[in-house]
Amino acid sequence: MIIKTKTTIASSEITDQQIFLQRRKVVKALLGAPLAYAGIHSGLAAGQTAPSNALAAHYQADSTITPANLVKNYNNYYEFSLTKEQPATLAQSLRIDPWTIEITGEVERPLRLDLDDVLKLQTVQEYVYRFRCVEAWSMVVPWLGFPLASLLKTVKPLSSAQFVKFTSVDQPEAMPLQANNTMLEWPYVEGLRIDEALHPLTLLATGLYGEPLSKQNGAPIRLVVPWKYGFKSIKAVVKIELLKKAPLTTWNKFAPRDYGFYANVNPNVPHPRWSQASERPLGSHFFTPRRKTELFNGYGEQVAALYRTMDLSHFF
Ligand code: MTE
Repeated sequence: MIIKTKTTIASSEITDQQIFLQRRKVVKALLGAPLAYAGIHSGLAAGQTAPSNALAAHYQADSTITPANLVKNYNNYYEFSLTKEQPATLAQSLRIDPWTIEITGEVERPLRLDLDDVLKLQTVQEYVYRFRCVEAWSMVVPWLGFPLASLLKTVKPLSSAQFVKFTSVDQPEAMPLQANNTMLEWPYVEGLRIDEALHPLTLLATGLYGEPLSKQNGAPIRLVVPWKYGFKSIKAVVKIELLKKAPLTTWNKFAPRDYGFYANVNPNVPHPRWSQASERPLGSHFFTPRRKTELFNGYGEQVAALYRTMDLSHFF
């Protein structure tokens, strides 16, 4: 299925298209058979079809992508460091091969599979999404991945499955702050409501910028939920559990008033310590005006219906 959106993506620089196209060729060779480029997915409204040269279409005036070196060198990965700069080096010690994924809970057919075998069953495609951190910086990233829904389908969720819990890897020998029990409770845990998890915009990403996912960005597989604050997009996922009740999630447990379970991007609800009305695109210059934050990070057309009965004037 092709999902696209209007691409009102504001950012600072545009990646040169030729370089990007070359990268795509490299990746095709790198990642081999499971990789199918049916088109670029830039989150356009459901029901719209992709133009035949969707990639070229993506590079229209208002479509921009954050330079890869910024995305790979400014990270939040608290198992490794409290700084933005250190995960790029420290995360290299993470062991990611072999990597097993377990899907359990309220499902007909629980699954425990090597990631390579999971990928054989999935079609990896490119999805260009805005990404908005709760700290008010933002970026636009071309992810490689597949809809979480397509993996969940294979385990046949039961009707009792109302929520999904995601757990990151427990590897204290490679993760210094996990080893020291610093700051958060480990392993990192996140959660979604089942309809959010099954939404076609919700991805499991295995790559970015036409390359396998870098360790600091969540290799070998991470969640990407583009309409929610970035802390929901859990890295290095090893376990997915379908549950009857909402799981207790890492940040929500740490500071419930600051980090809600839903955490939908919302310019109208400030964080207790700062405004969420605007954001700083990574790479933007000091004097560049900040970008106005959009409700649901600009994906309202696709996801607002999920929250029809909720009072969005609160921070969830
Ligand atoms: N996942 C794990 N396991 N550990 C983390 O510290 N940080 C989250 C999220 N996923 C985090 C995580 C936060 S706060 C953000 S903003 C994004 O990852 C950052 O993703 P990036 O480093 O790829 O930009």
